[in-house]
Amino acid sequence: MKIAPSILSADFAALGEAIARVEAGGADQLHLDVMDGRFVPNITIGPPVIESIRKRTRLPLDVHLMIVEPERYIETFVRAGADLLTVHAEACPHLHRTLHQIREAGAKAGVALNPSTPPEAIEWVLDSLDLILVMSVNPGFGGQSFIPSSLAKLRQIKTLVGSRLVEVSVDGGVDHDRAASLAQAGATTLVAGSAVFGSHDPGQAVKDLRSASEVLK
Ligand code: DX5
Ligand code: ZN
Repeated sequence: MKIAPSILSADFAALGEAIARVEAGGADQLHLDVMDGRFVPNITIGPPVIESIRKRTRLPLDVHLMIVEPERYIETFVRAGADLLTVHAEACPHLHRTLHQIREAGAKAGVALNPSTPPEAIEWVLDSLDLILVMSVNPGFGGQSFIPSSLAKLRQIKTLVGSRLVEVSVDGGVDHDRAASLAQAGATTLVAGSAVFGSHDPGQAVKDLRSASEVLK
């Protein structure tokens, strides 16, 4: 199981320190939430912050674009340091083209699905993607409650993916108590914001999430 702490719940004025703590705790990648105030009702960070983070960590940067017309910014985010760039299926009328654009720019390509978007939305692009990000909350804010139907959706996605080498990541309301059931349903990466940075010891929270995900229920 990979653990991807989402910095959205970290103290933005002390980001370097927050990142160092999760890196020391064994995080596999950093999840960076980019919001534009249009695709989602919140505004967060953009390329300059990602560029600064790139200089402070060796961890792969998993950039989650919650923006309209993401195809306009793909090269910019890859240049800023994104190793993995995820767009929302709902924001991409030409999803297949956008995924290839990401790969051509030099990053791994991910697709995120809102809670109301069916798994079939990615059925015909499965060979063009490296990661599926199952949103288990409506995107926009950290600290929301996990939507239980996400578990059944993860199982359907696991079946769709079959033997392909595609990461299945789950994002929203992920915590220690849910880690094992998410692993069983087919998640291969857990994104966690408040469960990690809301803890007094974010490095330990990363370790705890990983060990919880490895306990079979
Ligand atoms: C929500 C973001 C998440 C968020 C998760 O729109 O995509 O990555 O940081 O936060 P928690 O883990 O607190 O639900
Ligand atoms: Zn996210």
